[in-house]
Parts: sequence; C-alpha cells; structure tokens
Amino acid sequence: MNSDSARSEDAITELILTAKAKAYEETDHEPEPNLTTAVDWPVECSVGPGLEGAIACESKIGYVNGSKGWLIYRGYDIFDLCARSSFEEVSYLLLHGALPTADELAAFRTALYARLFIPETQRLLLSFPVQDMNPMAALRLGTNLMRQKQTYRDRRELDAFGAPIASDEDSIAMETVPHGERRPVYEFAPGAADRGPSPEPSTLVASEEIASCYNLIAGVSSVAATIGRVRAGRLPLEPIPELGLAGNYLYMLTGRRPSPMEERVMDVCLILHADHGMNASTFASMVVASTLSDIYLAIGSGISALAGPLHGGANVEVIKTLDEIGSADRVVDWYKKASENKRKIMGFGHRVYKAYDPRARILGPLAELLASQSETVRPLYETAAALEREVVSTLGAEKKIFPNVDFYSGLVYQSMGIPAELYTTIFAVSRVSGWCARVVEYLENNRIFRPRAIYTGSFGENYVPVEDR
Ligand code: CMC
Repeated sequence: MNSDSARSEDAITELILTAKAKAYEETDHEPEPNLTTAVDWPVECSVGPGLEGAIACESKIGYVNGSKGWLIYRGYDIFDLCARSSFEEVSYLLLHGALPTADELAAFRTALYARLFIPETQRLLLSFPVQDMNPMAALRLGTNLMRQKQTYRDRRELDAFGAPIASDEDSIAMETVPHGERRPVYEFAPGAADRGPSPEPSTLVASEEIASCYNLIAGVSSVAATIGRVRAGRLPLEPIPELGLAGNYLYMLTGRRPSPMEERVMDVCLILHADHGMNASTFASMVVASTLSDIYLAIGSGISALAGPLHGGANVEVIKTLDEIGSADRVVDWYKKASENKRKIMGFGHRVYKAYDPRARILGPLAELLASQSETVRPLYETAAALEREVVSTLGAEKKIFPNVDFYSGLVYQSMGIPAELYTTIFAVSRVSGWCARVVEYLENNRIFRPRAIYTGSFGENYVPVEDR
C-alpha cells in the first residue's frame, strides 16, 4: 500500500471511529435492546398500518435498534465493520453467518470476481432501450436476464430468446477507448471469451443454490455499471483483477481506475447499505421467495420496491431538493415554506430510528470530507448541512426526525462524479447481499406470507344490471 492510500484509509477509519464514539455517547441513556430472543409462535404484538410493529419471522442476520441508533450485522456493529472490513467480507458474513477465514475470503473474492463477467447478459440488456429506461427498471430487467442466462430455469425458452436482433456485434456502435486503457469493450476484444467464465450451459446453476446468490451479488454490480455506461452513450467494460467489488463497480461505470480514497469510500457505502432489518425491499424479496418463486425474481422485486422515493429512491430526491433550495442562505426560507405546506423533507425520518441513523453519522462526515476537496460539491454540502440544522432543531426535538441514510449518500456519490439518477442502483448493488441472506435464511423454515386486511366495505348490496345504473 503506498503512503497516499494508507493516508486515505486512516482518515476514513478515524472519521468512522469518531462517529461511533459520538453515537454511543449520545444514546447511552436509551433503553437496552428488547425483542432479541426466540419467540413462541404465535407471537403477541401490536400492529400499526403499514405492518408497523408486526413480527413476521426470526432472523440472525441483522438487528436495528431505533432508540439507540444501532445497526448490527450478525452481532457486529456497523461502525466496526465500516472501519475495518470490506464489502466482500460483509456479504460473506451476512450470507454464511460468520466472518470468513483468510482462505475463505480469498475464495469468495475469486468467486465474485468470476461472476462479474456477464457478457451474455449485458449483450441481451443492450437490446433494450436502457438509455431511456428508469435505471432501477433496467436493473430489474437485468436480473431477469441473468436468471435467463445463469440458471436452468426456462431452458427451453432460452434458445428462442438467446439472440435478439439488436444485440449482434454489428448493430452496436464501437466503443471509444477509455483514457489510458488498451482495450475498450470485452465483447469486441480479441480472445475476450477466454478471460471470463464460460457462458456454456455447464455453468448454469439451479436458482435455489447459494451460487445464485453469488451470481446476483456480483452480477447486479455489473448490470448497474452497464446501465450507467449505456446512459452515458458508452458500452460495458470488463472488470479488472486488481480491484475488489466496490473498485470494479466504479471502474466498470467510469472506465477510470478509482483512487484508493474513492475505492474505500465506495466500499464503506456498500457495507453501510447491505442490510437493514425487514425494510420494504427486503420484505418484498422475502414475500416473493416465500411462494417458492425463485431468487432472481425475488431480488427483482426487492429492486422494484427499493426504487420508490419513500425508500431507496430518496437519495435521488435529496439532490433534487438541494438543487431546488439553491444555496445555504436560502435554507431557512425554503424550510419555513416547506413546513407550512406540510411537505416531507427527503432524506429525513425513519420508521424504526428515533435516534440519529448510524449510517448518516458516517455518511455525513464522509460527505463533508469529500466536499472539502471538490469546488462543485461544497456548496451542495453546505446547503445540506444547513438543512440538517433546521430540520433537526425543529422536527428532531418534536418528532425525533433526523437525517437517514439517504440524506448524505447522494453527496458522497456526487463527489465521485456519479450521476444522480444512478444513486438508487448503488443502493441495490449493496442491498442485494442482504436480500439474498434474508431470503436464504427464511427459506430454511419457509411459510408463505399471507397477512390479512380488515374488510371495511359493505355487505348485502343488490346487483343492478349495467343498463339500469
Ligand atoms: N419530513 C417531514 N416530516 C416527516 C418526515 C420528513 N421526512 N418523515 C416523517 N415526518 C412526520 C410525518 O409528517 C408524521 O407527522 P404527523 O405525526 O404529525 O402526521 C410523522 O413524522 C410520522 O411520519 P410517517 O410518514 O407516518 O412515518 P413512517 O414511519 O410511515 O415513514 C418514512 C417513514 C421514511 C417513509 C418517512 O419518514 C419519509 O417519508 N421520509 C422521507 C423519505 C425518505 O427519506 N426515505 C428514506 C428512508 S431511509 C432509507 C430507506 O429505507 O430506503
């Protein structure tokens, strides 16, 4: 490791450990965790609208304590994982239940690296109007195409679907070689087929196997990067062996080798977003998996749920809000009007956290660090910091509303030059590991999800033929 990369490592680690100390100090007085022991089913709980308070299953994967502001993955504090771990290690932990040994981690990294090569899926994706699609819709489509190419499911249909007319090489414009790179696009590079894993049917797996989770954890990042490339008028790049998943995502998106600082920041972002209890997208994945559909379709549902502005889509809305406000000195007036109109401020509030979201405790200082090095992002950060002060001084005290994970993540991505419309896809690149872990765990004791609604409609209506209405 050279001295530059060691310095950025140290700066980020220190920032995270400082955030941890502050978090623990501020929430020390809050009640200790409850609801952490196995229950005797059926369990008594009071349920609010939107299933608030409902207990759907037991899980050993992750724990959120809303009043203490804790986020725990398999017993490990998120602050420690962000300070010391990597996204690969965290994905392994979530999926397999324990931190990997050095050998296990090396094998896992190798397995994920091999699965970043999905030329056939990317080729299929290029036959759709990806540049005109919502990136999350395109990502969902990408998981369907991965399912088609990587599993035994639907084998008979595959032959018919394998070669859409627009995806032959001649119909795709040649790529501009990214600055400093020798070869542009692996589909067109000589010998490219030998470098990635064989797309032959021998590599197909059953969608129920853990190998499908590995396919998805790696493949979603390749598809997300491909979507960014296509939207920028470029074609996909193959990953490079020197980089981990976070670094390769950045590389495959931008065509530029990320700096050690960028790689580390992206790694921290992926760790932070990997799992978060029974949130809407995790629940959506689990509901679909509980029908014994399959994991690709389940993850596709997670992506769909994550896309909404009340969930993962909030990070894009935050940037729109900051642009709308314009500058830090306009925050007070803007917020006064927004409050009068009872407008929800994107990036604030949370169903579970009634303390400061630990993820925002890390992302806020990270955004500040990066903004201090970027003329263009600094004013946005200053606007965000001023908005946080306003919201916390009013809604923080009144309703325990604080910034959530989405408030600062967009600023972090913006500092790395990533376009706003891709932010939610980055959330998915990470959360796919939590979705997979939760689905695999739930399927061990599967029971199809089936809550009820309270019928408040009428009874005994007399049917009147349409011509008499
Ligand atoms: N701005 C202003 N007021 C808010 C906000 C906000 N962002 N969030 C909640 N409130 C108020 C809300 O108006 C309500 O007030 P009252 O009791 O007077 O009617 C009270 O707080 C409770 O709000 P709620 O909407 O019933 O809370 P919820 O648990 O159903 O929703 C939430 C949680 C995250 C959807 C909501 O806080 C929200 O819409 N936030 C903005 C969108 C956002 O940032 N989403 C990202 C969530 S975190 C990451 C993720 O899950 O993807």
